[in-house]
Amino acid sequence: MSTSLSARATKEFQGRIIDGVDDVTPTVIAAMAQAPNARVREIGEAFVRHMHAFAREVKLTEEEYDIGIDFLNRIGQATNDYHNEGILFADAIGFSTLVCLMNNGNYGATETVAALLGPFWRMNSPRTEAGGSIVRSPTPGPELFVSCVIKDTKGAPIEGVEVDVWQSSPVGLYENQDDTQADMNLRGKFMTGAQGGFGFRSVRPAGYPVPTDGPVGDMLRAQNRHPYRPAHIHFLGFKPGFKTLVTQVFVDDDQYLETDAVFGVTRHLVGNYQRHDSGTPPAAGVTAPWYTLEYTFVMEAGEAKLPIPPIK
Ligand SMILES: [Fe+2]
Repeated sequence: MSTSLSARATKEFQGRIIDGVDDVTPTVIAAMAQAPNARVREIGEAFVRHMHAFAREVKLTEEEYDIGIDFLNRIGQATNDYHNEGILFADAIGFSTLVCLMNNGNYGATETVAALLGPFWRMNSPRTEAGGSIVRSPTPGPELFVSCVIKDTKGAPIEGVEVDVWQSSPVGLYENQDDTQADMNLRGKFMTGAQGGFGFRSVRPAGYPVPTDGPVGDMLRAQNRHPYRPAHIHFLGFKPGFKTLVTQVFVDDDQYLETDAVFGVTRHLVGNYQRHDSGTPPAAGVTAPWYTLEYTFVMEAGEAKLPIPPIK
C-alpha cells in the first residue's frame, strides 16, 4: 500500500466496524495513524502491513497461528539475565546482520567492519593493561597473541578508544555458560594508545553451537540447519565522536565460515589467525603451536552509544 493509499485508507477506515477480510488491514492502520510520534506511526503501520501481507501470502492457518504465538511466548520465557533468546532469534533469521549492514559503512554504501553484537556481551568486563592476558582461570588450548589497530575512515589512528573483547574458550563455551571458567574469563577492556593500537594475550577461540534448547533450536531443527558458528573474537570499540563499533573477527580456517548459523560472517571479517610451529615465541613459556592475529578496524564518525547488554 503506497503512502497516499494509506492516507486515504486512514480516513475511510477510522472508527469503523470491520465488514470483511479486506477491511482488517486498513482499519488497523487507521487506528495506528493517531500515534503522535511520526516514527512510531511509520513503524507501526509498516509492521502491520507486512505482517498482514505475510499471513495472506502463506494463507496462514489457525493452527499455524497458534504455533507462532507459542513460539513468540517461548522466546520471552527462555530469556533471562544470562541468556537472550530474542537476540538469538533475530541473529538466526539474519535480521541482526541486515540491520547492522544497513546502519554501518555509510549506511550500507561502503565496506564496513561492523557485525552483529550477538547474545553474549557483558558490560563491565575487567580493565586490562596493554598486552595483558584475558585468561583468568586455567583454560587449556593454543595460546593466541592479538595485536590490533583502530583507524578513522581517513586512515588516521584513533587514540583513546575503549575496546571490549570477549570470546569463547577453546572448547566453545563463554564463561557465563561454563562453571569451570572464572567470572569474566576471556573478557577484557583495553584502551588504544597514541598509534591506535591495542593488544592482548588469550587462547585460540573455538566455534560453538548456539543454544538449541529453546525455540530457536526448534526452528533450526525444523529447517534442517546446523547450529554452529565459526570461531571468532568479539570486539566493541567506544569513543565519543565515533559510531560505536561492534564486530567479530573470524578464524580463517573454520569449517563453518560459509554456513554460520547466525549469518555474522562478512568477507572483511575473516581474520588471519597465523599458526606458528617454530621460532621465538612472543612470551616466555609459550609452547608451539601458538597463534597470532593482527587486524585493523575502521571507526566511522558518529554517535558513541552503547547497545543494551544482552545479559548481565
Ligand atoms: Fe560469539
